[in-house]
Parts: sequence; C-alpha cells; structure tokens
Amino acid sequence: MDKDLLDIKSAATADIELILNTASSFKDVLSRDIKKVPTLRGKTAVNLFFEPSTRTKTSFELAEKRLSTDVINFVVPSSSVAKGETLYDTIKTIESYGIDFIIIRHQFSGVPHFISRISKASVINAGDGINEHPTQALLDAFTIKEQKGTIAGLKIAIVGDISHSRVAKSNIYCLKKLGADIRLIAPHTLIPTGIENDVTEIYHDIESGIADIDVIMTLRIQQERQSGGFFSSTDEYFKFWGLTLKRLGKARPDVIVMHPGPMNRGVEIASEVADSRHSVINTQVTNGLAVRMAVLYLLDSARPRK
Ligand code: CP
Repeated sequence: MDKDLLDIKSAATADIELILNTASSFKDVLSRDIKKVPTLRGKTAVNLFFEPSTRTKTSFELAEKRLSTDVINFVVPSSSVAKGETLYDTIKTIESYGIDFIIIRHQFSGVPHFISRISKASVINAGDGINEHPTQALLDAFTIKEQKGTIAGLKIAIVGDISHSRVAKSNIYCLKKLGADIRLIAPHTLIPTGIENDVTEIYHDIESGIADIDVIMTLRIQQERQSGGFFSSTDEYFKFWGLTLKRLGKARPDVIVMHPGPMNRGVEIASEVADSRHSVINTQVTNGLAVRMAVLYLLDSARPRK
C-alpha cells in the first residue's frame, strides 16, 4: 500500500483486494454491540470538503470516530479560504497540528495529487472534479462481492452520465481490475472519448443494453458539471434513459440495482426501482463505513513513522 489513496487507475489489484478483505473484518466489528475500536487512537483526521456531500462526509467522519481518531471537520465557507487563503497555505496551516489524514473533496481534478506532494499526511481522495472517487468504487465493489459472491465474470452495466462522473471512472478502473465485463449504456453525448479501451461494450439503447445484466449502476445527471445541451430535458431523459421496472425486466432475474447517490428520482431512476427488492442502494451506504475504516487503517500502516 501507498501512504495515500488518490485514484483507482494507478492502484494495484492486490491493494484493492486487501482493502475489500479488510473491510469485511470491519463490517464484522460494526455488527457488534460496541462498534468503536482503539485502532487509530491518538491519530488526527481533517475532513476538507470544498463541495457538498452527505454520504462520503458522514461516512468518513463516522469511520474516523469508530477507529478512535480525533476529527476536525473543516468548514470551508467559514474558514480563511473565504478571505483568499490559498490551498497551499490552508494545507500547511492544518499540517502544523501534526495531522495524520487529509480527506479531500474538491471541484478541480488533481487537487488530492497536489496535496499529496506537499503533505506528509495520508491523503484520501473523496472525489476530485470529473476525475475519480476511489472510495465510492471500493464500496461498490465490496457490495457487489457481498451480494454476488464474486466480481470476475459478472456483466455490469453503468448507465447514464459517464462523461461527467468521477464515480463511473473509478468504477470502470476498479471493476476491470477485478475481472468484470463492463457495459456502458448512455447517449453518445454522455460517453467520453477513449473510454472504449477500458470497457467490454458500449450501448446507446437502454432496452437492449440491459439484457442479461447481473448488476446495474445508475448515475445521476451531473448538471453542476455540464454546460448544457447534452439532452433536451430531464423528462425526455427519463423517457429514453430512465431505469423503470419494465426495463429492469430485461436484466437477469437476480439483478441488483446500485446508485452512488444522491438520486434524482424520476430522472435516471424510477422510485419503484429505487425502492424495489433489487435495490442495494442503502446497503452501499452501510458498506461505505466499513470500506472507509479499512482504507484509514491500511493507509496508517503504510505511512512512514514520524
Ligand atoms: N456518492 C457520493 O459521493 O455521495 P455524496 O456526494 O453525498 O457524498
């Protein structure tokens, strides 16, 4: 393991497997009456979110607390960032406390890599621009393995706004390393160029794309990263690309439906699918906690001692 988790593209398959196996042990810990362990007592984590988050932020904070880490939740709008302090000076200021982990979400791709170069702390990418969201892919892989027993050989469809999705990119790299057949389903306007080398198939029709699929990942339309013109309207998007129960009927009978959240019900997914027996969306959130505990634990072991 490296001291940082910056992306899945450059991660070793053996490290991904180690994180998934370690997360399994932490999931057992989380089923006990006393869910807190002293593993990272005396360590300090800073959660530095420059973009909104519900799942990733709460899950990292809870993972840190369950491991007995001291936690600083850095609130960007009320910090000196609002007075023009640079990212470099913000990191150097925080680091003066002798912190061990920086969990960073930022609107610009590459910011976690920049912080990694200037900081001795373990840096964890909690989502950078349209680049990657590595812990989301790890929790998704953990959930698939838990539900299906394996990942290798499964037919996994990723449906929707692939172009603007860091979740899609991390998942494509992760699931490919773990041996899945990856099928992308999206309009031509929402498929990035060059991605065909990393996936098995690309479909531009959801009806035929879903046939015989084991796992469907639906993606939110990332309107905050779009300049417009990729599709006519959300109503039309749902009509042609929305995951409905009727369309789900074309997949394998034991298909599971995933979504990284937050969902736009009635845009990329119908409520009747999101709340159906096929949905593992809330299980993904549960598993995010165990996976993030595993990442914190393993990175701490990999960081050179001070
Ligand atoms: N999946 C995900 O990153 O969700 P949040 O934006 O709520 O953290």
